[in-house]
Amino acid sequence: MWRPRVFALICGRFVSVSPLSVCFFSCSQTANVAPPLRKSFAAKSIACTHTQSSNDNRKRSRVMPSNVEIKAKVSNPTQFAEKAAELSQSEGTIIRQHDTFFNCSQGRLKLRDFMNKSGQLIFYERPDTDGPKLSRYSISPTSDPTGLRTVLSDALGVKGEVKKERKLFLVGQTRVHLDAVEGLGSYMELEVVMRPEQTVEEGQQIAEDLMEKLGVSKESLVTGAYMDLIINGQKET
Ligand SMILES: *[C@@H]1O[C@H](CO)[C@@H](O)[C@H](O)[C@H]1NC(C)=O
Ligand SMILES: *[C@@H]1O[C@H](CO)[C@@H](O)[C@H](O)[C@H]1NC(C)=O
Repeated sequence: MWRPRVFALICGRFVSVSPLSVCFFSCSQTANVAPPLRKSFAAKSIACTHTQSSNDNRKRSRVMPSNVEIKAKVSNPTQFAEKAAELSQSEGTIIRQHDTFFNCSQGRLKLRDFMNKSGQLIFYERPDTDGPKLSRYSISPTSDPTGLRTVLSDALGVKGEVKKERKLFLVGQTRVHLDAVEGLGSYMELEVVMRPEQTVEEGQQIAEDLMEKLGVSKESLVTGAYMDLIINGQKET
């Protein structure tokens, strides 16, 4: 059967029409977040996830969800934990995470071991820029992290490991993490879990407001993953 497919760029608005989905997104939607290529791709995945969900669930499961994340060095973890507890109205949840990163030709492939016979295999991509960033990821749970680690180590080789104890607080739609990272020190990570209809700017605004409430300065923002900080040997205090 012939399937009509029409793409057009009209007045800064990109419109795609196909039998399965109709996606609209503004070209300026994700300004100030990432390099141009990533920007349009990220905006596209958000808009299409939203629209496709109503007519094609099979397709939807293949689109990675998107979050806005920021990370910063924490000089006073006790004080930070107090503020986070106040904002979330909870004492927080402690989670141990031993992450193994495997060699991978693009993005990051990591196995997260919760040290309780459960774990997750996670693939993600994100631009290494300062400040709030948008990342895409896919996750698969496992009940045999040790066995999976062996197979993936044999197949791909290990790039490195990150061991941390994480305290998780939920504030609105944001996950606030206070991390004690072995060999690195204390850090915080904000993860704004985006709703389909929200723009990246909205996510960024939420992250920045929360950072201010938590007393985290822009100067303490950190670029890159713990894995990179460990590899680069940046052992600041
Ligand atoms: C293991 O720990 C993780 C993280 O704390 C938790 O989400 C999960 O439910 C736990 N699984 C088991 C089997 O205890
Ligand atoms: C995996 O990456 C590490 C570090 O980049 C390298 O030393 C190692 O040789 C790689 N292993 C494989 C199997 O490619």
